[in-house]
Amino acid sequence: MRIVILGSGRGSNAEAILKAQQAGRLCSARVVQIYADKPDAGILALGPRFGVSADFLDAAPYKTKLDGTAEQHYIAAILACQADLIVLAGFMRVLKPPFLTQFAGRVINLHPSLLPSFPGLDGIGQAFRRGVKITGCTVHHVTLEVDGGPIIDQAAVRVEDDDTLETLSARVHAAEHALLPAVIARLSNSDLRPTL
Ligand code: GAR
Repeated sequence: MRIVILGSGRGSNAEAILKAQQAGRLCSARVVQIYADKPDAGILALGPRFGVSADFLDAAPYKTKLDGTAEQHYIAAILACQADLIVLAGFMRVLKPPFLTQFAGRVINLHPSLLPSFPGLDGIGQAFRRGVKITGCTVHHVTLEVDGGPIIDQAAVRVEDDDTLETLSARVHAAEHALLPAVIARLSNSDLRPTL
C-alpha cells in the first residue's frame, strides 16, 4: 500500500508513521511521498532523515482550502505517486471535490479530539476549555463534511485535574503517535474503501 502524507506543521505524526515503517510495524504499507503546503513546515525535514521524497506543493492563495489550480496540482502530483492511501497528518486545509471524488475512500485524517466532539480548529484546546474529563484522538475517512466522515478508530485520553493545556496536548499527541500508525497497518491488511 503506497502512502502519500500531506501535512502543514512539525510532522510529529508523519515521523511516528516513518518510525513504525522502519520498525516493520506498517505491514505492507510504505510512505512514498510527503507533501507540505508550507515551504518551512517541519514535516519536510523528515524527507532526508528517513530517505523519503518530501516536497513543498504550493497551495496559494487561500489559507484554509485549495483553489481550483492548486487542487489540480495536488491531484496530479498524488496520481503520479500511484497512492493507495492519502494520510492527512496535520494538513490544515479543507479538501473538496474534485479532490475527494478522485480519491474517494482513500483519504484519512487525524483529528485531536474524540469526534464528533470538538471538530474544527484546536480540538485539544476546545476540549480543555470545555472541561471534559475524557478526550483523545480520532482517525476517520475524509468526506465533504469537515471532520464528519466515518470513524475508523479512536484513542481516549483522561484529562487530569492538574492538567494544563500543554500537559494534556503532550498526552493527546502521544496517543496520536500510537493510533495513526496502527490504523495504517490495519488498513494495509484490509479493504480500504468504506461505504461512503
Ligand atoms: C495533530 O495533533 C493533528 O491531530 C492535528 O494537527 C496536529 C499535527 O501535528 N490536526 C488537526 O487539527 C486537523 N484538524 P504534527 O504536524 O506534529 O503531526
